[in-house]
Amino acid sequence: MSIYSLYKPLVRPFLFSLDPEKAHSLTISYAKFMQSCPLFKADNHKLLHKECECMGLKFANPLGLAAGLDKNGEAIDFFGSLGFSHLELGTVTPKAQSGNLKPRMFRVVSANGLINRMGFNNKGVDFLVSNLIRRKYSGIVGVSIGKNETTAIENAVDDYLVCMQKVYEHCDYIAINISCPNTKDLTSLQETSKLDALLSRLKQEQGKLATTYRKYVPLVVKIAPDLDDNALESICDRVLANHVDGMSCTNTTTSRDVIYGMEHASEWGGLSGEPIRVMSSNILAKVHNYTKGQIPLIGIGGVNSVMSAKEKLDKGATLIQLYSGLVYEGPELVSKIINHI
Ligand SMILES: Cc1cc2nc3c(=O)[nH]c(=O)nc-3n(C[C@H](O)[C@H](O)[C@H](O)COP(=O)(O)O)c2cc1C
Repeated sequence: MSIYSLYKPLVRPFLFSLDPEKAHSLTISYAKFMQSCPLFKADNHKLLHKECECMGLKFANPLGLAAGLDKNGEAIDFFGSLGFSHLELGTVTPKAQSGNLKPRMFRVVSANGLINRMGFNNKGVDFLVSNLIRRKYSGIVGVSIGKNETTAIENAVDDYLVCMQKVYEHCDYIAINISCPNTKDLTSLQETSKLDALLSRLKQEQGKLATTYRKYVPLVVKIAPDLDDNALESICDRVLANHVDGMSCTNTTTSRDVIYGMEHASEWGGLSGEPIRVMSSNILAKVHNYTKGQIPLIGIGGVNSVMSAKEKLDKGATLIQLYSGLVYEGPELVSKIINHI
């Protein structure tokens, strides 16, 4: 019996009795303590090997940890030990920032959902880099990059460039976060002309960095689920035209249709978990259709079981990621999915 089988009967009731952000901080503290123990193993060799290749990288299996859970890369080895083939750290910004006012994270327990409006609270890119350098985990590590709250949207590209230059040498892929609904105007970067300008500049920089470090680090664009067909088609068009290496579908939604009238439904922020599963899968399927399989896709949103993981793979994802599912189902979900997909 794994210690993680105690999550649902014992640990979750305790964590759910706490404020969600306190529960998150406590989890990170526990993870940091565990990974500092002398006999701790950062890699998990007990799970079935389901190797897949994506963006020129070799993944031990298709399942990864989604961005936002370990924003500062403080518990890389712990999360790696759960069996994930890859961890997406961040979103990180050039300078440390405290994010939005608290409370800013809410559980929608009756729907297995979360609402957050964290606002890119993070300790800054240099802190993350120091943790990347220290890691023992040998799986794939992606870094999600964004802009500081105080940087005008017109100058956003400068922030992405700073982050990209600092993390490039130390990670395996970089995710461009233009879809978080909790940073003012960020999602406007998904508009055609702004997206084109951003992507062409980042691709140019990627070329330079690849020469400097003799290493090609793929770029992935993460999109929102709140996009109509025209916007989606145009984004796919710009992503392909700029030779971006992959797309992540999706971030959290501002829609409340699925949880209308439930506790905390009126809190503003991004909704995640089971309530966005269908919506995210539909976006994934459309993106798969528009991009005609020319680039790999990462399916995210409501992965909380073997079936929901298979659903993303069936809709065209090469890789899948989860966040809210871990909060509701606990660490055993990782091995369950990997062993049964
Ligand atoms: C508390 C919280 C913080 C998040 N922070 C980020 C973030 O910093 N960057 C990002 O790209 N996505 C962030 N996300 C979105 C997740 O990476 C993921 O796209 C979304 O939650 C849908 O997956 P899920 O249903 O498995 O949670 C965050 C999600 C939550 C719940």
